[in-house]
Amino acid sequence: MSPASERAPAKVNLYLHVTGRRPDGYHELDSLVVFAGAGDVLHHTAAPDLSLALCGGEAEALAAEPDNLVLRAARLLAGAAGVPARGALRLEKHLPVASGIGGGSADAAAALRLLNRCWGLRWPEERLLPLAAQLGADVPVCLSGHAARMSGIGEVLAPAPVLPSAGLVLANPRRPLSTPAVFRARGMAGFSAPAALPAGWGDAAAMARDLGTCGNDLEPPALRLCPEVGMVLTALRAAPNCLLARMSGSGATCFGLFPDAATAATVAAGLPAAWWRWGGGFTAGVSSLYSAAEPAGA
Ligand code: C5P
Repeated sequence: MSPASERAPAKVNLYLHVTGRRPDGYHELDSLVVFAGAGDVLHHTAAPDLSLALCGGEAEALAAEPDNLVLRAARLLAGAAGVPARGALRLEKHLPVASGIGGGSADAAAALRLLNRCWGLRWPEERLLPLAAQLGADVPVCLSGHAARMSGIGEVLAPAPVLPSAGLVLANPRRPLSTPAVFRARGMAGFSAPAALPAGWGDAAAMARDLGTCGNDLEPPALRLCPEVGMVLTALRAAPNCLLARMSGSGATCFGLFPDAATAATVAAGLPAAWWRWGGGFTAGVSSLYSAAEPAGA
C-alpha cells in the first residue's frame, strides 16, 4: 500500500442489539464489530483543488450521489484544521453500496486517516473521532479500524474480546437497503439487553456458540423489506462447517463464520454468482493513525 493510499475495510456486526431509543430518534446499540479483508481503497495525489474520481466494480451505484461521504469528510477535516481542502482523491469501490457492511462509513474514515497524513496534520485518533461521529454512527469504529465493542449510537468504543482466528464469508443479494428504512420498519419492537461476553475465545466454534445467544435486532425488519436476506442466510447455513450465519448491520449483507479462512474462501466461491460474495478472514486492523504520545511533527 503506497503512503498515499488507505484501505477502507468492510465492518461486520457479529451481533447487533438495539438497546434503546434517544429522544432525537437515533437508536442506542450494543454490537461487536470486526473488520473483513474485503474493502475499498482510497488514493490521494497532490492537486490544488479537491476532487473525487470513482473506479472499481461497485463504483456505478455511487456515481449518482452528489455529495459523497469522502468529500464531506475532506471538507469537514479541512474546516476543523483551518487548511484548504485539496487533493485529487480516487476511490476504488469494491464493497456494495447501502449493504450493512459500512462501505460509505469506511470510506469516510479512510479519508480522515489519509488526509490527516497527506495534509501533514498528524492529529491523533482522539482528535479525529468527534469529526468521525459527525459523519455517521459507524464512522468512529471504522476510523480506528480495529475490532471493537460498540455502544451509544456507535460513538462509544471499547476493546473487543480477544478474537480467535476464524473464516468469514460475506454475501449480499444485490438489493440495497436503506438504514433509516430498516430502523423505521422495526415499528414498535422492544429493546434488547446488552450482550454478556467473555474476555476472549480460544477458537471459532466457542465464539460462534456465544454469539449464537445474541442476535441482530435489525434482521427481522430487514427480512420484511428484503426477503432475499432469507435466501442468503439459508445458503450460508447449508454450507459445510458453517458455525453461525447472521445479517450484518441494517443489511442486506449476511456473514457466515467458518473454522478458517480457506474454508470461507471455498464457500464464498460456491455461492450464486449473481450475489456479491467474499470469503477470507478477519483483518488485522488498518490504523495508520498517530498516537497521542507521538509528538506533532515527529
Ligand atoms: O449515522 P448514519 O448516517 O449511519 O445513520 C443513518 C440513519 O440510520 C440515521 O439517520 C437514523 O435514522 C438511523 N440510525 C439510528 N440509530 C443509529 C444509527 C443509525 O436510528 N445508532
